Amino acid sequence: TYEKLWLVAAMVLIVAFIGTITYGSVGLGIAMVGDDSDSIDPNDVLDDEEFGDPGVQQVGEDEYEVYVRAQTFAFIPGTTEPIEIPEDSEVTFHVTSPDVIHSFSVVGTNVNTMVIPGEVASMTVEFDEPGEYGLVCNEYCGSQHHEMEGLLVVT
Ligand code: CUA
Repeated sequence: TYEKLWLVAAMVLIVAFIGTITYGSVGLGIAMVGDDSDSIDPNDVLDDEEFGDPGVQQVGEDEYEVYVRAQTFAFIPGTTEPIEIPEDSEVTFHVTSPDVIHSFSVVGTNVNTMVIPGEVASMTVEFDEPGEYGLVCNEYCGSQHHEMEGLLVVT
């Protein structure tokens, strides 16, 4: 019957979706390791020890902490200069905003988090292979929202 056909079609779609998600996290040599969060007063973001002068910090042999400020209308770093990390490294991103809600999304990966003012979104990702990844903001944040983008380079 048609009902059965629809059921089968729905199952096929679900499997396809799961396949897409798995490919996104594994197929590109990227694995999400975990995430946790923290918060600071949005008014203190620009004066914060880490977010006042954000960037890449090496914290272990193959471990990096990357602090990023998402603000109207740029990722700092990311927009005027790329975020650069070596391949085969475990990277923990910490992202916050001093102004309005943005997102921090690494195109082609499952790194996609909402960035709420003062809330520190943290996520750990493994980058095994060299590549270039676009950074985009997926939350409408104002007149230049569509131009809020950047670059992540794994070398
Ligand atoms: Cu930032 Cu849209």
